[in-house]
Amino acid sequence: MQIPKLTLIAAVLDINDRYTREHARRVAIYARRLAERISLNATAVENIRLGGLLHDIGKIGLSAKVLNNTHNRLSDDMLAEVRRHPLMGVAVLKDLDIPAAVIDFVQYHHEKMDGTGYPFGLKNDQIPLGARIIRVADCFDAITTDRPYQQHKSWIEAVAILRQISGTDLDPELVAAFIVDIKENLISPDD
Ligand SMILES: [Fe+2]
Repeated sequence: MQIPKLTLIAAVLDINDRYTREHARRVAIYARRLAERISLNATAVENIRLGGLLHDIGKIGLSAKVLNNTHNRLSDDMLAEVRRHPLMGVAVLKDLDIPAAVIDFVQYHHEKMDGTGYPFGLKNDQIPLGARIIRVADCFDAITTDRPYQQHKSWIEAVAILRQISGTDLDPELVAAFIVDIKENLISPDD
């Protein structure tokens, strides 16, 4: 018997801590809005939304020591563990009834345009478009929400930071489209 995909996803997401769950929900909404704004087709938009929801699913494999870390700096060992979460996510999802594109987005959501991301150091359009979209949404949400080591910044400050990392970390065309979207909708993800 096949378990419905969304039931499984909801169950897996529920394992995560509250912040991760809420973060995933917001990233999915920002990513969907950006995908719609650049006129991707309905299937691509839905895959990107799902990728946003699932992008950090591999964090269920992190040890409590790393998950509960409230310091700004992680030790090298802890950092190496965190950096495994995209591939852990692939391991969690690969046997579920989920489109391959969605699993790719999970796998590549920490790759950066200049090749300094992980796990593979892909550059520019070697990184799937959906993963680049999710990364913009992920960065924006990380900046505008309270983390254990950082107070949230306003969306105006966040836009300035996105501009600073546009081209090196983030896809510049996507950053430009995202900023238009944020200015129109402010930061409310409730639509
Ligand atoms: Fe992540």
